[in-house]
Amino acid sequence: MSRLPPVTADAAVAPHGHARPEDNALPQKLSTAVREDNPPVPIRHMDFGFEKQPLRRYFYDDNAFASAFYMAFSSVIPQGERFFIHSVRHYREQIGDAELEARVTGFIGQEAMHGKEHDAVNEAYEKMGFPLGRIDRSVRDGLRLLAKRLSKPTQLAFTVALEHYTAIISEFMLTHPEVRAKFDPAVGNFIFWHMMEETEHKAVAFDVYEKCVGSYALRVGTMIPTTVVLIAALANLQLYLLKTDQKRPMGGRWRDTLRGFSAIYGPRGLFGSVAPKLLDYFRPGFHPNDHDTRALLEEFREKFFGEQGELNEQLKKTVIPQVRSAA
Ligand SMILES: [Fe+2]
Ligand SMILES: [Fe+2]
Repeated sequence: MSRLPPVTADAAVAPHGHARPEDNALPQKLSTAVREDNPPVPIRHMDFGFEKQPLRRYFYDDNAFASAFYMAFSSVIPQGERFFIHSVRHYREQIGDAELEARVTGFIGQEAMHGKEHDAVNEAYEKMGFPLGRIDRSVRDGLRLLAKRLSKPTQLAFTVALEHYTAIISEFMLTHPEVRAKFDPAVGNFIFWHMMEETEHKAVAFDVYEKCVGSYALRVGTMIPTTVVLIAALANLQLYLLKTDQKRPMGGRWRDTLRGFSAIYGPRGLFGSVAPKLLDYFRPGFHPNDHDTRALLEEFREKFFGEQGELNEQLKKTVIPQVRSAA
């Protein structure tokens, strides 16, 4: 049976031993594979210290409904990221392109760090009474079953489809400062760091798929069940979290639901806004870099990790995957 053991960021660079610790400086050109416009994918070791600070129960706009949505999203991340890592790692030895291999190392390291920090924030909210450990175990069991039943190309196609979702949701959030302003900074900074890195590595799983699998029919055919499962699972988990949280009086809960529903599911909310970019995925010849996010990435790299970077204190180490030179 396929297993999905925890993956650490250090494990991402171990197999080939071609990564080295660096300061925050990034080289001009790190890795480009299929196209020339791929940004670098550095592995940033972060520690947001969730166990050491008070967190707001309703961390998005003091809204129980919308906060439950983002918590549902966070609850599936640790196991989901491990599934992504394993589905890409299956193909690591077949890539045959040193630059793409380096980006895969960056992808694995970034996703491992996301899983670690989401585990930490989920644990903090579990202590406040949210059943996040229980959700994590169910997601783990569900994904183990998927890993056992689905072929490796299909697992990778699911990862590519979900990476497209995280890319377009991240782009929406990074380009809407009013959304960031509604988050309590302790949680918001963490979520936006994750969104920035999703944008950095958005083409990696796609490029591995194109190089090692390449079927257009499987890619687009997988997006439909992915969409159904993703939305149904998130909405279901959100309702479960709302049901188990009765701290807010009934009147406030209704008010939160009305406002929160339009922020997440309304035509100008999260899902309504990303719909056009979702459809782009079905175009033959589509590539994630068709949505040019390089300027956006520059802006957030500077904001978070520049000289006066808002997250320099949380950044412990940066590892830059190096491109192996041909022997
Ligand atoms: Fe991630
Ligand atoms: Fe990702």
